[in-house]
Amino acid sequence: MGFLAPKSALSVCSLLFALVGVCSAGSDAPRGVALGFVFDPEAKCDPPCEHGGVCIRNNTCFCSKGYEGERCQYANCFPKCKNGGACLRPGKCRCLPGYGGRYCHKVTCSGGCWNGGECTAINGVAKCICPSGWTGSECQYPICPQGCRNGGTCAAPGICSCPEGWLGGACHTAVCSQTCLNGGKCISPNKCRCRPPFSGPRCEERKKSH
Ligand SMILES: *[C@@H]1O[C@H](CO)[C@@H](O)[C@H](O)[C@H]1NC(C)=O
Repeated sequence: MGFLAPKSALSVCSLLFALVGVCSAGSDAPRGVALGFVFDPEAKCDPPCEHGGVCIRNNTCFCSKGYEGERCQYANCFPKCKNGGACLRPGKCRCLPGYGGRYCHKVTCSGGCWNGGECTAINGVAKCICPSGWTGSECQYPICPQGCRNGGTCAAPGICSCPEGWLGGACHTAVCSQTCLNGGKCISPNKCRCRPPFSGPRCEERKKSH
């Protein structure tokens, strides 16, 4: 059922044409040609149509592109906002915490993911997936599979930072500034364990035999 367009409808139709391009038949058609929708120039919409929507019948709005709802009050987003995001204005989503990207389709990890970690949603929770050699919620901790002993700390994957007096991949080698003599062994910084019958800081003394 079409509506016969009165003279005054034509100007509104031109306006609609500019907005949505649906009036190609109506704008230069002779009077009395049915429009594609029922349009009443006397129509009242209360509350009024929002966002440039046109009141085409009593309390019926014809919304401009990008808006929908009874009063054209809602923006619409295509593609739809994902993961609970709200459409703020056409094509613009506001994302819930933990999500980002134009359509809230990307997860974001609050502290970021370091050292090549990748933020991924696991059961809806954003988590960093760390590359090998790194661990921690943000992939911030390097892994030293060999362990760092004697107070050493893991500074980079597989690399220990050793305190003074210790060396080696796991800080397992003590350093004696002066070499232990006579087969003695450096067992901790500047401490030699001597082979009998030697003694002294560097195992340089031979115990007197009685
Ligand atoms: C629209 O509403 C007005 C009053 O608000 C009324 O006079 C008119 O008849 C209505 N039009 C239609 C088509 O119902």
